[in-house]
Amino acid sequence: METLVSKDEVRRAVAEARAVGQRIALVPTMGALHEGHLSLVRAAHERAEYVVVSVFVNPTQFGPGEDFEAYPRDLEGDLELLEAEGVALVFAPATATMYDPGATVIVDPGPLGDVLEGAIRPTHFRGVCTVVAKLFGIVEPDLAFFGEKDFQQLAIVRTMVRDLDLPVRVVGCPTIREPDGLAMSSRNVYLSPDERAAATVLYRALRAAEARMLAGERDARALVEVMRAKIATEPLAVPDYTEVADAVTLAPLDALDSSPARALVAARLGSTRLIDNLALEVG
Ligand code: PAF
Repeated sequence: METLVSKDEVRRAVAEARAVGQRIALVPTMGALHEGHLSLVRAAHERAEYVVVSVFVNPTQFGPGEDFEAYPRDLEGDLELLEAEGVALVFAPATATMYDPGATVIVDPGPLGDVLEGAIRPTHFRGVCTVVAKLFGIVEPDLAFFGEKDFQQLAIVRTMVRDLDLPVRVVGCPTIREPDGLAMSSRNVYLSPDERAAATVLYRALRAAEARMLAGERDARALVEVMRAKIATEPLAVPDYTEVADAVTLAPLDALDSSPARALVAARLGSTRLIDNLALEVG
């Protein structure tokens, strides 16, 4: 496994792999890797011969007062995990390498970036789109792998690729959960033992909405109420949003029909903000 910090070195290494006919997959990460990330790497191995993982805590997707400084970093541990997964190349640039001090262009995520997470973190998806577009430009992958845990991010990246005609296929992969249902996230390490126990309420809320749908409920607002009521049973959880939305446009739904819908929740447990989501599939 090669670990490179310069864009030119990455371009050279990827060009060599492509020259011998290898398909290139990219798994973009911010490090502090867990089983969720490793599941993306494994999915990438199924579809490509040359797997690149980027490890970069992207400052432009953190707003003022968010956890950029505190975000967990463990490059050494990450490299061990990625080596064991048979990754070909890790790109771990410094911030000054990734963002030239003279750079002024950013990528606007469009209206999908204004709702849900975007309503609470107004500059977040601009930072995500900009860094992901840059990674696509540096690595030029055939395929790029993203987790459904960040469902809105996945929808926005797909839209960016479509709207900017970027020559990459975006692959979404299922959320990986702890045995008690908590979605794996690098931010789970912030939780105190009490908050960790309470954090399962996000998944319990999603499952309660799913159960109500399976029992025949088609009123999306009623399902939102089911999730709100469930989160309200957990005093340590402060909800940010609970929504049932179209899975492609993320527009809030009034009623479920045969088109794909998604239940999405965000809540604070102490100073930690967690998000989760679940497909709601009628019939
Ligand atoms: O999902 C993440 O870890 C980040 O948002 C990403 C896609 C690596 C961009 O920094």
